[in-house]
Amino acid sequence: MPDDTVELEARLEEAESFEPPESFVEQANVSDEGIYDEFEENWPECWERAADLLDWDEEYDTVLDDGDAPFYEWFTDGSLNASANCLDRHLDERGDEAAIEWIGELGETRTYTYEELHREVNECAAALRELGVGEDDVVTMYMPMVPELPVAMLACARIGAPHSVVFAGFSADALATRMESAESEYLITCDGYYRRGDPLHHKEKADEGLSQVDHDVAGVVVVDRLGDEYDHPMDNGEHDYGDLVAEQEGATVDPVERDAEDMLFLMYTSGTTGEPKGVKHTTAGYLSYVAWTSRAVLDVKPDDTYWCSADIGWITGHSYIVYGPLALGTTSVMYEGTPDYPEKDRLWEIVDEYDVDIFYTAPTAIRAFMKWGSEYPEQHDLSSLRLLGTVGEPINPRAWKWYYKHIGGEDCPIVDTWWQTETGGMMVTTLPGINTMKPGSAGPPLPGVDAKVVDTAGEEVGAGRAGYLTIQKPWPGMLRTVYKNDDRYISEYWAEYSDPDADEWVYFPEDGAKLDEDGYITVLGRVDDVLNVSGHRLGTMEIESAIVGVEGVAEAAVVGGDHEVKGEAVYAYVITEEGSDGDDEMRDRIVAGVEDAIGPIARPEEVVFTPELPKTRSGKIMRRLLEDIANEDELGDTSTLRNPDVVEDIQRKVQGD
Ligand code: WT7
Repeated sequence: MPDDTVELEARLEEAESFEPPESFVEQANVSDEGIYDEFEENWPECWERAADLLDWDEEYDTVLDDGDAPFYEWFTDGSLNASANCLDRHLDERGDEAAIEWIGELGETRTYTYEELHREVNECAAALRELGVGEDDVVTMYMPMVPELPVAMLACARIGAPHSVVFAGFSADALATRMESAESEYLITCDGYYRRGDPLHHKEKADEGLSQVDHDVAGVVVVDRLGDEYDHPMDNGEHDYGDLVAEQEGATVDPVERDAEDMLFLMYTSGTTGEPKGVKHTTAGYLSYVAWTSRAVLDVKPDDTYWCSADIGWITGHSYIVYGPLALGTTSVMYEGTPDYPEKDRLWEIVDEYDVDIFYTAPTAIRAFMKWGSEYPEQHDLSSLRLLGTVGEPINPRAWKWYYKHIGGEDCPIVDTWWQTETGGMMVTTLPGINTMKPGSAGPPLPGVDAKVVDTAGEEVGAGRAGYLTIQKPWPGMLRTVYKNDDRYISEYWAEYSDPDADEWVYFPEDGAKLDEDGYITVLGRVDDVLNVSGHRLGTMEIESAIVGVEGVAEAAVVGGDHEVKGEAVYAYVITEEGSDGDDEMRDRIVAGVEDAIGPIARPEEVVFTPELPKTRSGKIMRRLLEDIANEDELGDTSTLRNPDVVEDIQRKVQGD
């Protein structure tokens, strides 16, 4: 390597901040620093800027109604339809442009122009109506990354039926729990899909889930993805998606005028307790927020080819594959498969072939790319890329710099976007056309977002200090409640730092964070009992109750251990009923139990049998110690333990493995 390259390498290694390239700034959707002050001085009316990105049937009267805080309402008395905003209004100018570029794992491709997507959404909406789906009926979708998923979501939005998408990797049990919680009587699912070239018979899981649902299910629709590969049974009155849509050929369904605050969808997510929370998002606030952040943060323009590699079964896919990009009329890429099939250059091949402008992924994926090596991206021309993004977990500076160099060619800004299922859209991130980037730090709060890092008393911490992230003002994309559980909404999100008597409400996302002298926020991770495994959110309680349900198990404690690629891995400490060491057979049953209750993503990396768990004198399990053991870290304070001896015991077991 010539000397100057070595020097450049060293500079990249050491650099702590990066400026957005001039060429990017010149074309950025948002490049005027004044936007921060504008939003602050003009709050909450500043959010009209987001609302202005939408077409309204009826103009709203009030931007924010905080009369019943923290049950905030946005854009009160306005009405609109989300599917009309994502489709109909683009037809005149962009009817022939691609809305979705779908790429199947086996290499098949399908392009839906806005015209075609509009047509199929109308036909699907007509079919759902015919099945009996009415306004406000919750339709569950248990589907992998097939184009029929966004079609069905938009069809539901068109007729005012909220959707509840359950990630296809979740188990039959998880599907049943979510359908029951939502009292959902309709399910749209799929016969199967491909993983690493092999067909997976997804419908078997759907059938098993349906058999566990307590209430009557009025309609089940099955998309045929595998064709001749899998002759799936249709013995329970299920409808074939293809037939239903064909029967409605050419049908049009007027978009239902929805109130701004009508529910657009539910998304179940894990919390501290065993029971997943149904996060409720509404029409105007959510849609305007994801459109606004897609525009300001992801710099999406109608002529772009934009690719978010998440799964639509998670909030990232809802907001930044479907609603945000389509509201802006851009081309959104959807890839069915895994990043290393058939080869580890699959994603870069797609970027090259489709001339992708913007790429948004998760740190866990970047860590895997790093491990595979730079030779894979180097096989392709990635010069179409203009902007990169990450989401889901903290990104360490090494991974950030690898992404910057090997994917972005040191020429693309990176946005490290902190947000949650509950926030609907991005909250803390740099604006790529304005801010200096600091690897490892998400950045300042977005304009109009009042994020503060506080101590346990709720006082702001100074620069350089760690504390808890809080959001001190509402924002349009926020969740409205936990479905049918307003008490839980208050206790989970607003109890910690609010002062209800003074009508002061502070949202607590349960993340630790650190502030620097420029107001940048480094998110440190969850401070509750929620794990982040490969960017997926899993409740330790959910996993524990699955393990305790396994025959012969008396007690279990689950913690996260550091993992090179996944970020965190599931460590399960298990006490058997006999107090003896479990054997391999039992270990297998525990792993299977977790897969059945939640899904393979929650599979324990390690199962450690122990006669006791470290507990405080009041009987509380000391999870910190179990984490230290998993990570082979120096142990924290053990002096408050009732049973300090057990710690060494467990330690010996884990390290002996
Ligand atoms: C949790 C939310 C947002 C969509 C995907 C995850 C963690 C998210 C970042 C980031 C550090 C992050 C937080 C948060 N998280 N983005 N850029 N830096 N941590 O949504 O499943 O609701 O999980 O993911 O811990 O609370 P989710």
